[in-house]
Amino acid sequence: MKNQKLCMIPGPTPVVRSIQDEMGRETVSFKDPSFVEDFLSVIKDMKNLWSSEEAFVISGSGTLAMEMAIANTLKEGDNCLVISHGYFGDRFIDMLKKRRINVDVMNSKWGQTVCVSDIKQKLRGKTYQAVTVTHVDTSTGVRANIIEIGKAVYDLENTLLIVDGVCSTAAEKENLKEMNIDILLSASQKAFGVAPGLALLWTSQKAMKRREELGEIRDTYLDFYKWLPIMHNPMKYFGTPPVNLIWALKESLSIIKKEGLDNRFNRHIKDSKRIREALIELGFGVLADEESQASTLTNVLYPDGFDDTLFRQELANQGVVVAGGLGDYAGKLFRLGHMGNIDEHTIFSTISAIERVLIKMGKTEQIGKGLNKLLS
Ligand SMILES: Cc1ncc(COP(=O)(O)O)c(C=O)c1O
Repeated sequence: MKNQKLCMIPGPTPVVRSIQDEMGRETVSFKDPSFVEDFLSVIKDMKNLWSSEEAFVISGSGTLAMEMAIANTLKEGDNCLVISHGYFGDRFIDMLKKRRINVDVMNSKWGQTVCVSDIKQKLRGKTYQAVTVTHVDTSTGVRANIIEIGKAVYDLENTLLIVDGVCSTAAEKENLKEMNIDILLSASQKAFGVAPGLALLWTSQKAMKRREELGEIRDTYLDFYKWLPIMHNPMKYFGTPPVNLIWALKESLSIIKKEGLDNRFNRHIKDSKRIREALIELGFGVLADEESQASTLTNVLYPDGFDDTLFRQELANQGVVVAGGLGDYAGKLFRLGHMGNIDEHTIFSTISAIERVLIKMGKTEQIGKGLNKLLS
């Protein structure tokens, strides 16, 4: 019998049965009173859990949410500071330039973070209408220090903080009020444990004021003002809402509320630490510096002389799918997602499959070293 495939890439993540069931329900009219009520409860939960003024759930992926954040807050000629810790941080640069927004970039060596005191200094030297930062950059497994960056923009009346939470929201601590975030953007397929297809955004009062100041914008699908009436009253229509995915998100939020956000953050911290310890025991390395390692994924460096393609192929044969490295790290590391609704069984199965591949590839003779580390 063929092994089942555990999807341990950094998104999409494993989708639990109760969420799958919501996606498999018979689709109803988006004006069906019970769906309207469900959609409203999703928006209400999002606002409450992340302390936002408004929340948006739109058909699309994380990239759409990035573009929405920019389109609704910045105009041609504005200044934006991009703090980038990798491939996804850099993604903002092109988007901003296409809109003729002036971009300054602060980046770090992959695996490290930009020094917060340098960011503070940069912010003192020029007025930026927005700062973008990726909370966890999936290309490096680095977590940005959002609390400190939030403090750095706190006093800046004209500066908005835009946080890309695609690889962090619902697993790493984020709260708009407590952390001075003006726009948090995310997507359904990572720590929410829903299938791909939803772009998610949370906005502060300051961000909505900026939207008001912009007046008419050139975008239609991206415009907050087209969607806001629907987020307040889903009986209204602008674009057809993805009914089944919204049900799936409702179930995901219900799982999150049952677990409790703080418990969920702590679980991710503990599990990621155990997983990294097990991998190091097996001879692998970690790209991210110790103080900035994300809880949602690990970018796992191969020891010298390792065949990436063969390793990932053998691992898939053993039932675990992981992702390859990006940019200069293609072939040098694999990316292991460990976020969302994963359990002990998944974690042990993943490390066990990695050990079986190491045996097969002749890299070790003894099974159980990593598993023992998970237990300790
Ligand atoms: C941190 C981060 N930002 C943005 C994106 C883009 O999201 P999507 O692929 O859903 O468009 C990704 C995708 O992996 C990501 O990891």
